[in-house]
Amino acid sequence: MKNIIVDVKNMSVWFGDFVAVRNVSFNVASGEIFGFLGANGAGKTTTIRVLCGLLNASSGVVIIDNIRAVPGQEYKIKKKVGYMSQRFTLYDDLSVQENFDFMAALHQLDNDVYVLRRQKLMDFIGFDSDLRTLVKNLPGGIKQQVALCAALLHNPKIIFLDEPTAGVSPQARYKFWQLIQELAKDGKTVFVTTHYMDEAENCHRIALMRAGEIVAVDSPAELKRKTFGDTLFRLLPKVPKPMWPIPDVIDIWQPYGAAYHLKFRDGVNVARQLRGLKRDWEIAQIPPSLEDVFVRLVEGKNR
Ligand SMILES: Nc1ncnc2c1ncn2[C@@H]1O[C@H](COP(=O)(O)OP(=O)(O)OP(=O)(O)O)[C@@H](O)[C@H]1O
Ligand SMILES: [Mg+2]
Repeated sequence: MKNIIVDVKNMSVWFGDFVAVRNVSFNVASGEIFGFLGANGAGKTTTIRVLCGLLNASSGVVIIDNIRAVPGQEYKIKKKVGYMSQRFTLYDDLSVQENFDFMAALHQLDNDVYVLRRQKLMDFIGFDSDLRTLVKNLPGGIKQQVALCAALLHNPKIIFLDEPTAGVSPQARYKFWQLIQELAKDGKTVFVTTHYMDEAENCHRIALMRAGEIVAVDSPAELKRKTFGDTLFRLLPKVPKPMWPIPDVIDIWQPYGAAYHLKFRDGVNVARQLRGLKRDWEIAQIPPSLEDVFVRLVEGKNR
């Protein structure tokens, strides 16, 4: 039996009469890399804020490492979780060290513990600049790594990363995900949001959010299999004005560069349709990507 460290049942969050998160249920196992995907405004950050003890759910049950998230328990929860927020990570006008000092004070860490821990984290990311460097003078990718360390300073069991790689270079994104994987190997639970589908492939499981609701939770491989099976095709036109598939048979028709991804509706005679399309299109059956899954389940095109 896996050790469930985040357990959410029928959670809703509303602001006035606007429902930002609607009746979501999911759990996260200890040591898991759990991804949260969804369009802008889907409710990812709102959910994270509840799980970090920063916002109370309007209804439902949230349990973080055996502690129920209810008013009065915020302090206990904050000891267990680290949070790298989407908009604010570090004070730009303070040095790296001053930012860490500040975090250490917030968490009331003993000085000896703090200094050791900071050194360990600096080694973890391979930080080789001076700790007196102002944060605003760090390259974007390094700043995000330092922010990760700041969120890990009090050695939380669970770390929440809200779009930690937004706007950083591909190289820096790759490095950041290596760090995430090391953390998980070390037994930390990582809860991460991203808009990059290539990053999401690294998650053990993913929750897909759409307009405040969770529409699917599964591993990347299972999401692809359950959403598409072996029914996805790539069509590249062979002629300038190809004959289009008739709308009646189409479930998904999504442009990818010069080509299209096509999924037929259930019950359609696929072999027959393909025979008809072969004259004007080069057709190949393809394995679905997470992007295909996202388009189908979250963006909800052709539904
Ligand atoms: N304090 C608040 N008061 C009113 N509405 C809010 C508040 N916080 C969030 N919302 C609304 O709740 C919805 C969900 O917002 P949230 O920030 O959780 O989305 P998100 O999935 O994190 O989006 P993004 O990908 O843009 O970060 C949005 O419509 C947002 O405007
Ligand atoms: Mg957000």
